[in-house]
Amino acid sequence: MSEFFTLKLVGDKLHILDQTKLPLVEEYIITDDPERIAVAIERLEVRGAPAIGVAAGYGLAIGFKNFTGDVEERFHALFNRLASTRPTAVNLFYALDEMKKSFDENTSSSDLYQILIKKAVDIHNEDIELCENMAANGLEIFDSPKNVLTHCNTGQLATGGGGTAFYVIKNAFDNGLVKFVHADETRPLLQGSRLTAFELDKAGIPFAINPDGAAGYLMREGKVDLVITGADRIASNGDSANKIGTYQLAIMCQYHSIPFYIAAPETTIDRNISSGKEIKIEFRSGDEVRQISGTQVTRDNYDVLSPAFDITPSELISGIITDKKVYRKPYNF
Ligand code: MRU
Repeated sequence: MSEFFTLKLVGDKLHILDQTKLPLVEEYIITDDPERIAVAIERLEVRGAPAIGVAAGYGLAIGFKNFTGDVEERFHALFNRLASTRPTAVNLFYALDEMKKSFDENTSSSDLYQILIKKAVDIHNEDIELCENMAANGLEIFDSPKNVLTHCNTGQLATGGGGTAFYVIKNAFDNGLVKFVHADETRPLLQGSRLTAFELDKAGIPFAINPDGAAGYLMREGKVDLVITGADRIASNGDSANKIGTYQLAIMCQYHSIPFYIAAPETTIDRNISSGKEIKIEFRSGDEVRQISGTQVTRDNYDVLSPAFDITPSELISGIITDKKVYRKPYNF
């Protein structure tokens, strides 16, 4: 892993690398305020499905520092506030539910703060291990060195550990199995051109950023052998929600006979839902499209429709790499 970190508990404070400023400025938000952590998730200062879950775990725990009031009331208020930040990534709800189990078992403990901090650290450490296993399992999809295209950011910045799809690609590169990476810029918030490029550069992997609309061209030109993305929620039938634009990539892969893989930890699988139809898609503010990095590019009165995620139907997914194994079609989680 590279020398920067995404999230770290230092003493009683959470340090969060502000991803809205990357790659031009590497600045950390240092806070012990759970509301500030909730706002950081909403603003995408910390983002990526597993990283959101890890941040929420710390946010809940930190809310009990020096707290002397009604712990039940406090827990439910913090839980609901953090749960309201972003609806699509199931990892947020996985982490909050894990924190709730720990709270329910220790409600009357005088050590509640320390117990919840330990639980948040456990969730973080679990994510680090899941990333390692995913990266190792992902090697099996490479039979020779490949040119890979990826979408959004799925690396260290998006998780508590080394990443999902990005970490599979990095491990394959370290094993001589990746020649070049095409990074979709990922409009409107540019997670590809700002964050994935930052991580590819730090990892020494040869890459180029392309506008999202260039992916089909690159495939037709024979420049892409394989596409790997992450996921924010995977239904029992394998339908997968990921950053807007993933669905069209999967369709183009099918047309060009290019394998399309998802890499995600088992904590991203939502076994409570049968298909992607049940996944709630987050819609973002139109200003994120009307402006680019704070600069107005179109008129304020123009309507914008900005879904942050789309659903890729399972039949378009060649395989799902998790920390346990590589699943193949048909999926039945
Ligand atoms: O809106 P974001 O930046 O949180 O979206 C992130 C993604 O879509 C990632 O691909 C996804 O979380 C899976 S990888 C950790």
